[in-house]
Amino acid sequence: MIGEKAMATTDAELRSGEAANHDLSKGRSINTEQSTMAPTVYREKDTNLPLLRNTTVALLGYGNQGRAHALNLRDSGTRVTIGQRPGKSFDQAKADGFRPIPIPDAVPKGDLVIIALPDETAAEVYKREIAAGLRSGQALGFVHGFNIRFGLITPPDGVDVVMVAPKGPGSLVRSTYVEGKGLPALIAVHKDNTGNAKRIALAWAACLGATRAGAIETTFETETDTDLFGEQVVLCGGVEELMTAAFETLVDAGYEPAFAYLECVHELKQIVDIVYAEGLSAMCKRISNTAEYGGMTRGPRIVTDETRAEMKRILEEVRNGQFAKEWLAEHKEGTPKLRSTRDAGATSLLEQAGKAVRRLMHTE
Ligand SMILES: NC(=O)c1ccc[n+]([C@@H]2O[C@H](COP(=O)([O-])OP(=O)(O)OC[C@H]3O[C@@H](n4cnc5c(N)ncnc54)[C@H](OP(=O)(O)O)[C@@H]3O)[C@@H](O)[C@H]2O)c1
Repeated sequence: MIGEKAMATTDAELRSGEAANHDLSKGRSINTEQSTMAPTVYREKDTNLPLLRNTTVALLGYGNQGRAHALNLRDSGTRVTIGQRPGKSFDQAKADGFRPIPIPDAVPKGDLVIIALPDETAAEVYKREIAAGLRSGQALGFVHGFNIRFGLITPPDGVDVVMVAPKGPGSLVRSTYVEGKGLPALIAVHKDNTGNAKRIALAWAACLGATRAGAIETTFETETDTDLFGEQVVLCGGVEELMTAAFETLVDAGYEPAFAYLECVHELKQIVDIVYAEGLSAMCKRISNTAEYGGMTRGPRIVTDETRAEMKRILEEVRNGQFAKEWLAEHKEGTPKLRSTRDAGATSLLEQAGKAVRRLMHTE
């Protein structure tokens, strides 16, 4: 169990944004002992779809994840009420046939209330627009563990707290469901007041299509830590830096940017597709002996002992709450670093080369 009282921020701190200065490491309870036990995976047969057919889901936030959850739940026979402020997402919800209402009005309607708001704003919105409307017997659902893991939201007694975190973007949650498949998801129970919490999480995962691929049982802590680590070190950090550095190395040496892009960025998809479908060893069998030998001997010169030590430091920053604290401080200041990086990235030589390559390949 997470030490929620010790980690939680006060109302005043949240209002003033001082949550970012809170000691987010307190109350952490992670089992660091390595386990070789296979995780518990739930499939369609393990779930009770009608459980949600007779209930109303209040879905708060109609963005990337919210929209996919809302559409899949509705197509699975669940009554869905959207809580959404006016704007683009509100208009999208209306275009999709929903009748969105203000978040405080949606909360009391839900037997299951799903928070699909950005991690960095969810706690503010929770205090201001959600907490007062919650009642005993409801379930509160999260699509990522961040706010529970770091004690930013403390749900009231009597409310079940569950998570269904799809392992992929909202667009894929929706498109795989429509194809009759699904994306795997991690499910977890933080509080089980009714004795029904896990069944609710599983029914939600089933309505989402996740149990077609497998709903894997975990904790809010493990989901959050592994998700943040994976996106920082590999998916949204490490891979981008690697592609950019390799691209710049070739360009600095006088090679055409388009060729550099093709080799160091564009072709990554082909390799990743094979890894996704068949694994790393199968990928090695599909490439030339030259590529395999070159990769085997040069790869470890790129990911060195120093890189591995840095990975450990990054993991520790995730686990002790340092990253969460830094991200909330950045949000409080209006995300200046995020915005300047986005602006610079959009006009870079690498992006221009990417456009040229996509034109060449007729994909743009
Ligand atoms: N992106 C993904 O594919 C993905 C994958 C796995 C898990 N998740 C998790 O899903 C959750 C939601 O992320 P997301 O990427 O779906 O977010 P998103 O696309 O940015 O959507 C956020 C939604 O919340 C609304 N919102 C934002 N700030 C608000 C505020 N201050 N008050 C009221 N409403 C507000 C937005 O409305 P407006 O349009 O009016 O701003 C929008 O409908 C997060 O916990 C994230 O970690 C996301």
